[in-house]
Amino acid sequence: MTQIPPVDVLIIGSGAAGLSAALRLPSNVRVAILSKGPINSGSTPWAQGGIAAALGGIEDVEQHIRDTCRAGSDLPDVDVVRRVVESGARQIDWLLSLGMPFSSESSTGESEHLHLTREGGHGTRRIAHAADHTGRTLIETLLESVYARPNITLFEHQLAVDLITTHRLGLNDQPNRCVGAYVLDIKSDHVQTVRAHQVILASGGAAKAYLYTTNPDSSTGDGIAMGWRAGCRVANMEFMQFHPTCLFEPRAKSFLISEAVRGEGGVLLLPDGTRFMPDYHPDAELAPRDVVARAIDSEMKRTGADCVYLDISFKGKAFIEEHFPMIHERCLQYGYDMTRQPLPVVPAAHYTCGGIVVNKHGRTDIAGLYAIGETSHTGLHGANRLASNSLLECLVYGEAAAQDIVSWHDSPKSATHPIPAIPAIPDWDDSQVTDPDEAVIVSHNWDELRRAMWDYVGIVRTTKRLERAAHRIALLRREIQDYYAHFRVSKNLLELRNLVEVADLIVKSALARHESRGLHFTRDYPESNPELAHINTICTPQSQRVTASAP
Ligand code: FAD
Ligand code: SIN
Repeated sequence: MTQIPPVDVLIIGSGAAGLSAALRLPSNVRVAILSKGPINSGSTPWAQGGIAAALGGIEDVEQHIRDTCRAGSDLPDVDVVRRVVESGARQIDWLLSLGMPFSSESSTGESEHLHLTREGGHGTRRIAHAADHTGRTLIETLLESVYARPNITLFEHQLAVDLITTHRLGLNDQPNRCVGAYVLDIKSDHVQTVRAHQVILASGGAAKAYLYTTNPDSSTGDGIAMGWRAGCRVANMEFMQFHPTCLFEPRAKSFLISEAVRGEGGVLLLPDGTRFMPDYHPDAELAPRDVVARAIDSEMKRTGADCVYLDISFKGKAFIEEHFPMIHERCLQYGYDMTRQPLPVVPAAHYTCGGIVVNKHGRTDIAGLYAIGETSHTGLHGANRLASNSLLECLVYGEAAAQDIVSWHDSPKSATHPIPAIPAIPDWDDSQVTDPDEAVIVSHNWDELRRAMWDYVGIVRTTKRLERAAHRIALLRREIQDYYAHFRVSKNLLELRNLVEVADLIVKSALARHESRGLHFTRDYPESNPELAHINTICTPQSQRVTASAP
């Protein structure tokens, strides 16, 4: 079994958020980064379009702020949006200083100017990218620096099961503080205790709650569920983003066709070749993502078609090979030549806009516990994330959390109020459980949960369907809890336990919002209610209640 030593900072997740936070911590801070799969198992390596950054001066910054708020249906917290957007240029400079090979204006790479592409909801070209494999290149760049830092150790195939807090240890006379996590070593099936002065949840989103998703298998909402069980508030879970264009091809499982394809001129067509987006929005294919996904859903239902088509073939082979080499190659593997034909596409669950409530430093409600990246709710995305704002948010909050940890260590307060010593933590107790006897229950419940979410909590909702989902989830939850209480834990079981928790939060939040806004569209309240324009949906673990709250 791989032993993880006690550390100053335990980072759960090795995507853009986790790696960038680790790199922003100084070299005297001992850091352990966990990944429940191989290091590159999160969503980050799959990112295609790029990183939104207003590099065009003050007017670009102001327009990026407006675009983010407009895409988010007025719900984003404007102060947060401003802070994140204003730091865009600095984040790109930081990545350049680490050697990130962004695409440049000249295809020979001689130009000093980055090539900026465009995506839906952006009023201008503003997306810095590395061709159509920005995420893969970003991870490679960050990892190269991480490997050069002796204070940072990466642990693969280590799945955090639950956070350890002082209150969970029964120390209720002191403020609740996170002091580590129980972690399953997937290869040996052993759960170990990892002690840490600070823990950062950077474990990505929860789109695997849906049957069809663009996300990798790791997106099971573990961080959101762990934070919730530990006592953190969770916000705006009703806003699950569906990406409009996932390749409609069963062999591809979940292959995204980047929005940048539309940004560079691609058009959406019905099977008979008719273009339909101009009928739905003045920005047509470049409308915000919620609008495009809903339009495709509506056209598929109206015409009975299994998919719609995305065509960029008219741009020619040279252009497509330069801008979309990875997508072109993958599509060719499935028999589609995008330089000659339109691609069949459908919407799929893509991004979790809600998450664990954090402040501007990435601090959660529990001392010593931070949440960054897709697992968190910072207030940036509101009711619908603007394309390519996610990687930007990962970088900004990775830096903010690291700075907060460092400034605390360096502040005079730390001399008078040092971080309390980590108390004794009992080992994981599996003396009362046995080996699972009916693993089929776990795989069946995985399928049932994801199908129920797809059928009843999808792009278009109704109260009746949401109630149906709530009923199914309550039954599944009981069954999964029972299984968890009696049998030894496994990766499959732990992820399912987290998914059902997150599904429950999504449905409760959706039922609580009596209007349609951004990604939450319900036939029972089809209009937006101006009185709810700045109201978040907050789930509070202590009361198990869902309430509305202004940012
Ligand atoms: P992730 O990159 O998902 O990393 C999560 C990490 O947590 C993984 O290492 C995983 O192993 C680990 N983990 C999870 N649970 C546990 C656990 N219990 N124990 C231990 N480790 C755990 N956004 C953009 O801004 N621009 C884009 O172009 C873009 N394109 C995208 C394309 C695709 C196909 C997808 C799926 C997403 C895209 N996004 C894009 C969204 C963006 O990629 C993600 O939101 C972002 O990468 C999330 O980063 P993260 O660090 O928060 O989490
Ligand atoms: C894409 O390339 O279409 C994904 C961009 C994003 O999710 O921000």
